[in-house]
Amino acid sequence: MVYENLLLEIEEGVALLTFNRPKALNALSTDLLNEFRDALQELEKNDEVKVVILTGAGSKAFVAGADIAAMKEMNSQEALDYSSLGHECLSYLETMSKPVIAAVNGFALGGGTEVTLACDFIFASDNAKFGQPEINLGIIPGYGGTQRLPRTVGKNLARELIYTGDLIGAERAREIGLVNKVFSPEELIPETKKAAKKIAGKSTLAIKAAKTAINAGYDIDQSDGCEIEKKAFSQLFDCKDAKEGLTAFLEKRPPKFIGQ
Ligand code: CAA
Repeated sequence: MVYENLLLEIEEGVALLTFNRPKALNALSTDLLNEFRDALQELEKNDEVKVVILTGAGSKAFVAGADIAAMKEMNSQEALDYSSLGHECLSYLETMSKPVIAAVNGFALGGGTEVTLACDFIFASDNAKFGQPEINLGIIPGYGGTQRLPRTVGKNLARELIYTGDLIGAERAREIGLVNKVFSPEELIPETKKAAKKIAGKSTLAIKAAKTAINAGYDIDQSDGCEIEKKAFSQLFDCKDAKEGLTAFLEKRPPKFIGQ
């Protein structure tokens, strides 16, 4: 596939997908969102790809949000369609079987923070900035910020960020549990690739089972979540990878996983 607003590179099981509209700080136009959804669906189907990394083109921004120029012209029906498209992309991203790591290389504002919240986890450069500044535009987050941000950092912090529109730096984002690790801008992509390649070397079936169990169990009663885990755990025992992993340990050799 050839994309106008995305760059894609695949290496050693890791896809690096880059939002590429640097003139608008990678703002999420409708065209970009349509391409993003299509690209995620392609990556999900591509057996060569085990892990996806998302980042932004240029040194300034991951994604500066939804497209403000486009939104200025929208009526409520068009805004609903635009919000629905963003939600469709991010719910696909959140539930696809392959892990997705956000490598945040600058501003991740509004829709940019919302993209990162749908990823499995977030690494950031020390110049990254996060926030939900929609309130300054007279609107609110429209790609899941009112839902995923409270679930990630807690209700009160989410309220403060959404009501004030204040931005926070990478270190503060790490303190509140939004970001896992902070690197220098030069180290961000190599370190994220290192983590992605480590995950790509595991059993894809086990990673998928872990992701599914965490996602499916997160918002429900813990005992129901544990039932989901029991099922996901036991199903792996019908797979060659689990036999291989358990046998390799006992034979004191590295496992060779084949995703079956
Ligand atoms: N949409 C469209 N264009 C954007 C944009 C956005 N979200 N963010 C930046 N741009 C454009 C600017 O208009 C500018 O274009 P021109 O060169 O044609 O004037 C270009 O990108 C560079 O931006 P700035 O000149 O503003 O760069 P800066 O370094 O001075 O400031 C910034 C950087 C602080 C990120 C600033 O651009 C900014 O505040 N951007 C908007 C952030 C924002 O409010 N995001 C939330 C959007 S609403 C949303 O996301 C809703 C939702 O959940 C669905």
